[in-house]
This record gives sequence, C-alpha cells and structure tokens, in this order.
Amino acid sequence: MISAEELLKSEIPIIDKWLDDLLPAETEPPQTIHRAMRYSVLSGGKRLRPALAIIAFRRFGGEGDRIYPPACALELIHAYSLIHDDLPSMDNDDVRRGKPTNHKVFGEAIAILAGDALHALAFRNLAEAGDIRIVADVASAIGTRGLVGGQVFDLEAEDTEPTAEILEGIHRGKTAALIAVSLRMGARLAGADDEDVDAVSAYGEKIGLAFQIIDDILDITADPKKLGKPVGSDEEHNKATYPRLFGIERSRQIAEELIASAKASLGDDPNNEELHAVADFILRRAY
Ligand code: IPE
Ligand code: IPE
Ligand code: MG
Ligand code: MG
Ligand code: MG
Repeated sequence: MISAEELLKSEIPIIDKWLDDLLPAETEPPQTIHRAMRYSVLSGGKRLRPALAIIAFRRFGGEGDRIYPPACALELIHAYSLIHDDLPSMDNDDVRRGKPTNHKVFGEAIAILAGDALHALAFRNLAEAGDIRIVADVASAIGTRGLVGGQVFDLEAEDTEPTAEILEGIHRGKTAALIAVSLRMGARLAGADDEDVDAVSAYGEKIGLAFQIIDDILDITADPKKLGKPVGSDEEHNKATYPRLFGIERSRQIAEELIASAKASLGDDPNNEELHAVADFILRRAY
C-alpha cells in the first residue's frame, strides 16, 4: 500500500505545474503583483487541500484532469490566507515555507493586493469548473462563517482565556472549513450522491480540526527548519491554542481521537484506504 507521504508527494509536481499555468506570468504588468503572487504560491507547501480534493474526486469515481483547476483554486485561497495571516496586523510573522514572508519582500500593500488577487483568481477557476454548487460551497467555507470568521475569533482571542468551545470554534473556522470543503468539492465534482458528499465533508471537518491542533503543537515542538516557519509564534502572541489550554499531551490525545473518529465515520470500505492513510499522516507530520 502506498504511504500518505508518497501519495501526497506524487501529486505535488502535477499540482505545481497546474498552478504555474494558472498564475499570470511575471512579465505581465503589473509585474510586481504577479511576482508576489507567484512567490507565495510556488514556494513549496504540502498542497494538502488540492490533494484532498483530488483524492475525494477519484474515490467517488472521478476521472481525468478536470479536477485540477478547481483543486488548485483551493491552494490559491490557502496561499491568500497565509499571506494575510502573516501580515504585521495579524500574526506578524517573517518566515513562511522557509522564505521571508510576502510583505517582507514586496511590502504590505502589495501583499494585501496579492492576497486579494489570488482570491479572485481562485473563484474564476472554481466557476470555470461548471458546477455552481462548488462556488457556493467554497464561498461559504471561507467567509465569516468559516475561514475569515475563524481568523477574526483567533485575533480577538489573543491575550484571553478562551473556553474549549470557543477554541474549537476558532480552529473549525480558520482551518477545518477549507479542508472539509476541499473533500466536499472533490466528491461533488465526481458526481457522488449527497449522502457521500456529506460523509466525506464530515470526515474533513474532523481531520481539519486535528490538523490545526497538530499545527499548534508543532508551533512548540517542531524543528523550525523542517517546519519552514518560526516556532514560538503562538506563545509570543499569546494565541488561543490547544496546548495552551490542554497541554501538549492532552492536545495530541484529542487530535488522535478526532482522527480515529474521522476514519470510523467513513467505515472500512477498501475504497477509503487513501482517506484513512491521509488521516493518519496528519498525526505524524513534522512539517
Ligand atoms: C498552514 O497550513 C496554516 C494552517 C492552516 C495551519 P499548512 O501546514 O497546510 O501549510 P503549507 O501549505 O504546507 O505551507
Ligand atoms: C492559520 O492559522 C489559519 C489560516 C491561515 C487561515 P495559524 O496562524 O496557526 O497558521 P500558521 O501557523 O501561521 O501557518
Ligand atoms: Mg494565524
Ligand atoms: Mg499564523
Ligand atoms: Mg500555527
């Protein structure tokens, strides 16, 4: 059986090629912003969200290349969210994927606009996939009831003692919503029925929450060189994190429970093998 690491790594060059083609060339004016967009998108990263869309697409019988443009749209949205997340007015981080953050290289104004432009380019690619439902699903997942809402709660929770419910809400919004909709999108575009679409999306919510809990743990325990971003940023900003509320050991246990529950919710149909493998990878990742 192929490991999740191999599975994800085998998709990276294909996803990167599509991203390269979807992004405007650096030579096209205004050159600065096209350089800034390409700088952040084509800078490595696990490509987890497009990979999840592709895995779900194939799981439900989808064939061919048509999944790649909308799957890459998810990565464009993710890149936009990271550029804005690193801004001085948000997490004020200087390193991302082992390189200076976008605003450090291009300045804040271009970083904000590069994020805006990636967001717009993403929706163009989603719309071109020809299924209006995925446009609505992604818009719902990344607005004030999802990613943006989670980011607002995350900022408002700095220097406070959030309850476990508030913390879970932050993490579901800022991270799990985009991960869940990636799976939902892949399944929908493959023509899965509503029950399967909802089931894979519920699995995505769980692995997405576990993913952010592990991200919080890695912010304390990881090797920053491997992680590609600074360690200790959450502590510096007094962020609401799982380790801060529960300690590292209990946080890891919660993540393990979520992964077990995500896998159980899918059942042991052999067709779910890749989804099970990716869920396990989320627990053992070091980057
Ligand atoms: C980082 O996401 C931001 C979070 C939602 C935790 P990833 O850990 O997927 O970052 P890349 O894309 O691999 O750099
Ligand atoms: C980021 O959460 C979530 C989004 C970008 C939407 P974090 O702030 O924990 O992500 P990192 O640690 O900077 O990658
Ligand atoms: Mg943040
Ligand atoms: Mg951050
Ligand atoms: Mg983090």
